[in-house]
This record gives sequence, structure tokens and C-alpha cells, in this order.
Amino acid sequence: MLVMLVHGGASSQVKNREARNQGILKALNEGWAILEGGGSSVDAVEAAITTLEDNKNFNAGRGSLLQLDGIARMDASIMEGEHRNAGAVAALEGIANPIKVARLVMEKTPHILLVGKKAKEFALHYKVKEMKTNTNKRTEYQEKALKKGGAIVKIYKEIFGTVGAVAIDSKNLIAAGASTGGILGMLPGRVGDSPLIGCGIYADNSVGGVSMTGTGEKIIRMTLARNINYEMANGYEALSSVKRALREMLISIGGEAGAIAIKKDGDFGIAHTTKYMFAGYKTETEGPYVSDRFKIVQK
Ligand code: GLY
Repeated sequence: MLVMLVHGGASSQVKNREARNQGILKALNEGWAILEGGGSSVDAVEAAITTLEDNKNFNAGRGSLLQLDGIARMDASIMEGEHRNAGAVAALEGIANPIKVARLVMEKTPHILLVGKKAKEFALHYKVKEMKTNTNKRTEYQEKALKKGGAIVKIYKEIFGTVGAVAIDSKNLIAAGASTGGILGMLPGRVGDSPLIGCGIYADNSVGGVSMTGTGEKIIRMTLARNINYEMANGYEALSSVKRALREMLISIGGEAGAIAIKKDGDFGIAHTTKYMFAGYKTETEGPYVSDRFKIVQK
């Protein structure tokens, strides 16, 4: 049973709807082509996320938001469900595809998470493509926010855009990944949920796989990806599991988030607490289907 899910971020508003829908479709098709050709779910997830990182309409890779000092520092992670191995990078600067670096951390090192300058050195050692997104030209908003120590970060909920993918391949292996430029108004050095295993992503072949988008500060406190997997392990369908975990977050601490999840039997679910979430799916019998709205979860 092949399943490919992709997301391009939860948000309270929609910008560039058509371009984003097309971007999701492209990522979905690229991931699907790998699954259909007998490739692995890890390859499919990496390919789908790479496509979104290369697309300026998404907040990851080339389209990453800048931190308040005018520099893009990106986070990404990938996990495979067979051995539950994982790799991640945080606060990575000047590299086009953080998801590729996360995969290298998973496959070439005994570690899970590399950060900052050393993560970049590691990426360059493996010849991952560089990019120039860093800028010293701060916007008026950034100047103001920086002076206030990030005090006006409250408007961050206006824009999200973490990208992610989850897939199950012909060998029934599950993989999940996420990549992000963070959130609007973040202090320099801030790291969100996306590189944290169990928070931004999770994969376990005996249960399922999950990738998150939304406010990292809330997702981390709820260890949301692991919570969704836990709900699936307890027998709930994928969609119910996503809805239950998101609702628990809303009731206990509030917050904006969305998730894509696949169960080991191919059952999948997509839901969000925000008004919009760009995402798409393809299975052997359905899709490719792309939309900016799926199940909206309320208190
Ligand atoms: N979910 C992305 C972030 O909070 O950085």
C-alpha cells in the first residue's frame, strides 16, 4: 500500500494560493514517482521536501523567513520507521536543502542533531548545495522587534509555512520529514519543533508516521508528533488521532498547528487548528489531491 502525504504549512491567511497548490502538487508527484518506481519512503520524503525547499513560495530552504537580525536559520529533520533512526539540523545558514543535511546526519553519523556553523561545515563536507539567503538589510519591522527583544512576536501567527512529508513504500516502510524557516518575528537563535524528534516529526513502522506544522513553541510543549503516533498506537484512525492530539493542545495550552499522519495500514489523516493548511495526498486509489483546507479542529 503506497501513500504519499505532503504539507506546505498551516496559516491563518492564504497568500499565493495557486502557486502554493502547484508547489504541493509538484512535491507530491515527485515523491509519488519514487514510491511507484519501487523507491524507499525515505527517498520519497526527501525528494518531496527538497522540491518545497527549492520553491520560494514556502517557508523552508529558499523561501525561509529571516530571524530578527536579518538572517535565515533553518531547521529540518527526517526519520525512518524501521529502526526509528533519525537525523536533524537546526539554525543552519546558507544551505539550499536542509532536509538533505538532516538525512546525512541520520545516515553518516551516530548523532541525531547538528546545529549552527558546525552543521553547515558538515553540509559542505558532503557537498550539499549552498545558497545566499542571508541579508544584513533588516526590515523596519525587524529593527523594531529586535529593539524590543522580540516583544512583538505575537503577530507570528499570521504566517507559517513549515513544509513536510510522510510516506509508506512498497516494503511497508514509513518515513517522515519536515523543514522550516521558522516563524515570523523570531529572535536570532530561536529553534522550533521541526528538528526535534517526537515534536515536529515521528515515524515507527509498527504504528505510523507524522509531520507537523504550526507554532513550534506549542508543538514542543505537547510533543505533538509523538502524541499523534500514540493515539494511532491506541487504535484510533489516523484522522481521529490528529484531531484528538490537536484538540488536546487547544484545550490545554492553545496554539496553531496542523499535521499529516499515516498509519501502518495506509489509513491517513490531515487536520489543522488554523483556517488554512496547504497539503495534498496520493494513494494507489486516490489523488493526487491538493487543497488549502482539510479538517479544521476546534476546542
Ligand atoms: N513549526 C515551525 C517552527 O515553529 O519553527
